[in-house]
Amino acid sequence: MVMRLDKFLAHAGLGTRSEVKKIIRSGRVLLNGVAAKRPEDKVDEGMEVLLDGKVVSYAVSEYYMLNKPKGVVSASRDKDAKTVVDYITCPHAKDLFPAGRLDKDTEGLLLLTNDGPLAHELLSPKKHVEKVYQVWVEGMVTAEDQKLFGEGLDIGDGKKTRPAKLEKISYYDGEGRLLDFDGFEAGSAEIDNLEKPEENRICQTRLEITITEGRYHQIKRMFGKVGKSVQYLRRVSMGNLVLDEGLEPGGYRSLTEEEIFGLKIFKKT
Ligand code: URA
Repeated sequence: MVMRLDKFLAHAGLGTRSEVKKIIRSGRVLLNGVAAKRPEDKVDEGMEVLLDGKVVSYAVSEYYMLNKPKGVVSASRDKDAKTVVDYITCPHAKDLFPAGRLDKDTEGLLLLTNDGPLAHELLSPKKHVEKVYQVWVEGMVTAEDQKLFGEGLDIGDGKKTRPAKLEKISYYDGEGRLLDFDGFEAGSAEIDNLEKPEENRICQTRLEITITEGRYHQIKRMFGKVGKSVQYLRRVSMGNLVLDEGLEPGGYRSLTEEEIFGLKIFKKT
């Protein structure tokens, strides 16, 4: 494992790439007893890396996708409630944290990792990482709503939301029928799990929404702004990472090398 020193230190959790570059240039890092000067110096297995006289050990990065169930808190620890990290049983689970948050009642894709720099990049407001959600909304979502979402909405943060894409998939017509927008019965290849609204007489629109930010309760607040309430929310992708539909709620798996690579490529764009 030959790796650049700045990457090694960032992965060890000592700061962002730019922070660790400064540390390296200040001469505080010793490589096999010799002061390192350049961030691009190489670290190989068996080398001793010291920062201010203390050994720095390399934490192997781990990446898991969890199909978050409802009712679980997106945090590493909580004194009362079960957290998303409690689902992962790997030896270093205590070092994992969720890259971003889903509301307690939201389901779906959550990335759990110990890779701070990658999580930081994915969550950075400057990166505009696309996140796609399935959403069920009470009432009929209109073309006007789609336009307003596309233009960005003032949800009370002092700055409009970035443009969001709304794609209508199907709707419950208030009489227990799930129809597509041509008026036909929606088929079994539907996005939903064919759960019905609790009351047949409720009209409900089922959509996919794509947002590129991660504001607090963003989707619920956006629909609230157009007078509609979200009844169900499930994240299906984040950047290049797509929820594995083979995972039951509460199920998880390690990311494949390709998926990890996909996230890192994204990071560079
Ligand atoms: N928007 C919300 O309102 N809730 C979530 O959990 C994610 C996005």
